[in-house]
Amino acid sequence: MSLITLSGLTPSSSGIHMGNYFGAIRQWIDLQQAGGAHYFIASYHALTTVRKPELLASNITSVAMDYLALGLDPEMAVIYRQEDVPEVCELSWILSTLTPMGLLERCHAYKDKISRGISADHGLFAYPVLMAADILIVRSNRVPVGNDQKQHVEVTRDIAGKFNQTFSEVFPIPEPLIIEGSAAKVPGMDGQKMSKSYGNDLCIFETEKKLRKKVMSIVTDSKGVEDSKEPDGNTVFELYKLVASRDQVETMADKLRSSGVGYGYGHAKQELHDAILEYFSDARTRRKHLEDNPSQVEEILRDGATRVRPIVESTMDAVRSAVGVSSRPTR
Ligand code: ADP
Ligand code: TRP
Repeated sequence: MSLITLSGLTPSSSGIHMGNYFGAIRQWIDLQQAGGAHYFIASYHALTTVRKPELLASNITSVAMDYLALGLDPEMAVIYRQEDVPEVCELSWILSTLTPMGLLERCHAYKDKISRGISADHGLFAYPVLMAADILIVRSNRVPVGNDQKQHVEVTRDIAGKFNQTFSEVFPIPEPLIIEGSAAKVPGMDGQKMSKSYGNDLCIFETEKKLRKKVMSIVTDSKGVEDSKEPDGNTVFELYKLVASRDQVETMADKLRSSGVGYGYGHAKQELHDAILEYFSDARTRRKHLEDNPSQVEEILRDGATRVRPIVESTMDAVRSAVGVSSRPTR
């Protein structure tokens, strides 16, 4: 039997950025080949930050188009929206009754907010439990995510173990699959970790003009065109490594290191811009096609909702019966 893989992304902005792609989605694409892959759009999670209904609706569609354009394939993976599986909210409640407060108090999204003196709402506090429900409702064995989500998968493992011990063995204990190396923390324009919440992100499907403006604004040191510059750790070079061929990377490194060759950061940025467009060229073409055919996207999401249903219903039957409520509630 093939392993069940599950992952998702929160549609809190309209575009997937290079950090999301190299830190998480690229791995999802590799894993879908093996079968059993489930990729969803975490709409309810986005409600902790997006409170404009039109914006949330358009972000959801936009993320679906990004997924498909980047190579998530509905022939291989089940692709769906969280709201098409409303039972996650029921499961989330049941799991929350087994979740110690201390476990959630240690979670970074909540802790960071509190440490900055911002009061958090219950949704943000309880968000790792909803994430556990997302994972466990399809009885997932492995969860490919970026490093910053590892803690949440560990919370899921604790909660699943507690459920199995308290009631009966319903859930496998899922493994986080984390990418190591340079893609583990893709830098943003300011050199910090790329994140939509820091406003330093390079979105893959940005217009060429916007992308160029953002690439040109990447922060560098003040060395001039004739100075020797250290490529490693330099944001322009670190991003270039993700999108350029090995030869191109070596050539840029040589040019940066050489002095008196008239090669400055402006030139490197132009090469980075061109390499990003080249790397994502097919995806950008596919994205345009999907924008012109939104009904095709809707159909894929509906089909995903239908295909995920049997596993969701079988898990919820097992959960309800394990805890002692009616396993087929009257609707
Ligand atoms: P953001 O920080 O922009 O809000 P999310 O938290 O929605 O991004 O992350 C979605 C997925 O992409 C997660 O698995 C996360 O670990 C990964 N990811 C996000 N930013 C980066 C980054 N800069 N480098 C590597 N992976 C990232
Ligand atoms: N919290 C994840 C993020 O911000 C999104 C997410 C929600 C998720 N539920 C999930 C990821 C379940 C993996 C599995 O990126």
